[in-house]
Amino acid sequence: MLRLSGVTKQIGGLTAVNRVDMRVDNDQIVGLVGPNGAGKTTLLNIISGILPLTAGTIEFCGKDITGMKADRICHKGIAKTFQIAESFPNLSAQQCVMIGVLFGNHNAPSMREAEKTAIGIMEEVNFPPEKAATLTRNLNVVELKRLQLARALASNPKLLLLDELTTGLNPKESREAVELIRKIRDRGTSILIIEHVMSVIMGVSDRIVVLDHGEKIADGRPYEVVNNQRVIDTYLGDIDAF
Ligand SMILES: Nc1ncnc2c1ncn2[C@@H]1O[C@H](COP(=O)(O)OP(=O)(O)O)[C@@H](O)[C@H]1O
Ligand SMILES: [Mg+2]
Repeated sequence: MLRLSGVTKQIGGLTAVNRVDMRVDNDQIVGLVGPNGAGKTTLLNIISGILPLTAGTIEFCGKDITGMKADRICHKGIAKTFQIAESFPNLSAQQCVMIGVLFGNHNAPSMREAEKTAIGIMEEVNFPPEKAATLTRNLNVVELKRLQLARALASNPKLLLLDELTTGLNPKESREAVELIRKIRDRGTSILIIEHVMSVIMGVSDRIVVLDHGEKIADGRPYEVVNNQRVIDTYLGDIDAF
């Protein structure tokens, strides 16, 4: 579904992402991990077209999407979660999701259809229905995370990019988020997820890719990756990730 070849991003004198090759297959959840500053967020921003890349190619569903703008990439079927509260603090939760439905799809539906679709998606991510009319700036962190997911799903993506979805959630809320991620995958959306908590990423990923200083240092099944000596030395050895 997604194939990166030699993807490189230079920011000033720094190589934030360095010749990364990786892929995400159909119906897979791929975990992206690595120390702070490893280049994980930069890589997701490149895939979604928010940041231009310096070198390399990106293929999605067999088509070259290298250098395409974010809105076209979204219409092709790649969605990414954003910090909704910062984008539209004075819109209601439901309006935020409706924006995703209206602008995220190639053929914009009517307002009435968009409303119906938004309500359905919010139910799917267990967003509390009584908060649908609440302004996003008055939502708590759990509600905002669910809303981020709903808005990303509003463009009906084939591939969903999630940046630290469970950060700020307690263990029970994290488990619920993982259930939701699985449910989304099971309905046919592939997922590339950045996550700090290793127990979460181990439990949910079909494959794990490890970045360090912008370079891919490991790629494989979860048990292979956590037993990889280089991963233990550079990442797992000195964090409280478990
Ligand atoms: N806009 C920017 N300007 C300067 N440096 C940046 C910018 N964005 C990211 N970086 C640098 O690129 C590297 C990778 O950052 P990032 O992708 O955010 O890492 P991660 O998400 O893995 O923590 C870091 O060294 C970071 O400081
Ligand atoms: Mg990051």
